[in-house]
Amino acid sequence: AQVKLAATPPMGWNSWNWFAEKVTDKDVRQAADLLVSSGMRDAGYVYVNIDDAWQGTRDEAGNLHSNDKFPDMKALSDYVHSKGLKLGIYSSPGPKTCARFEGSLGHEEQDAQLYASWGIDYLKYDLCSFHNGVMRKEHPGDSPEAMHLQYKMMRDAYEKMHQALLKTGRPIVYSLCQYGFDSVWQWGPEVGANLWRTTGDITPTFDRISLIGREQAGLARYAAPGHWNDPDMLEVGNGKLTLDENHTHMGMWAMLAAPLLAGNNLSQLTPDIKAILTNREILAIDQDTLGKQADRIYAEGPIEIWARPLADGGSALAIFNFGEQRCYLRGISLHLEQAGAFRGWSARDVWAAKELGPIDDSTHFTIPRHGSVILRLSK
Ligand code: GLA
Repeated sequence: AQVKLAATPPMGWNSWNWFAEKVTDKDVRQAADLLVSSGMRDAGYVYVNIDDAWQGTRDEAGNLHSNDKFPDMKALSDYVHSKGLKLGIYSSPGPKTCARFEGSLGHEEQDAQLYASWGIDYLKYDLCSFHNGVMRKEHPGDSPEAMHLQYKMMRDAYEKMHQALLKTGRPIVYSLCQYGFDSVWQWGPEVGANLWRTTGDITPTFDRISLIGREQAGLARYAAPGHWNDPDMLEVGNGKLTLDENHTHMGMWAMLAAPLLAGNNLSQLTPDIKAILTNREILAIDQDTLGKQADRIYAEGPIEIWARPLADGGSALAIFNFGEQRCYLRGISLHLEQAGAFRGWSARDVWAAKELGPIDDSTHFTIPRHGSVILRLSK
């Protein structure tokens, strides 16, 4: 039987969050080496994704060439594959990418064939420039007709690349990046998307990360094996995030069945960050084969509880403290029924790797500022 693409959320590394436009062939090879030596590949991080800024110019026949930072894409691809990893690349449906490099407009089939000839396994297709205009959020001046037309053009552009990718005959994960315009989660699967961004860009700050995470409420029903909501790539290990904030970010993305694309500089991977990124029990929640994303079941001020059902009949439950104060919480058993769990179910504290036993009225948690607890519940 054919293996379904993205049967679980794609995992890997992407160059953008750390290297941005400076990324080179050497950086990508080094990331591949480090995915292997750190154990991240064996934990499931198999895609090595080159983001924007690899593109050079088109020749007279319209064939796109990589720029000087990427002297030989096929050789790079062979290297990445020799490590048991897969290679991803980036383009845009308009004339220019977000960083103003060459886009694929009018060259969709040519570009898809080029990627396939290089052995590309994953394409992120990022809106930014769009035909002659620039796609933007609705604003008061836009008539419904104008917005409708723009959205239709956008969908057609995504479908065009979908068809071009299919024509190559190569399985290529298709990642839509258009910030959730036109409720992409409702039509992403129709244009062949394996994942679609639901929000604007992430930054390595807890405000932005927690806002994006909380905005995913209500989207759970659109995720399923083969197509996933994408709240953007991981910032774990980036910026000045505290250890609690890194745990909360990682745990929340796992609860959300989010694609896990590490965005840090792997040559600066500390033991703490490595432990977060490769925690097998957290990854098992993200990669759970049932493919049901968590939804919010309780919110009161800075405290939120999210739950998702798991393939083994149990549930994962996350308690987040988005606030600035440490919080003491009891009465958690009241929320168990909503999480699909019932009295007497036992809980395991995933980050602490500790059995807590049956949950009852005396169960309580103290959660630090910006911290969280993730429980795996079973009968
Ligand atoms: C957009 C995307 C980012 C990144 C950049 C590249 O901002 O959302 O993830 O791909 O473009 O220019």
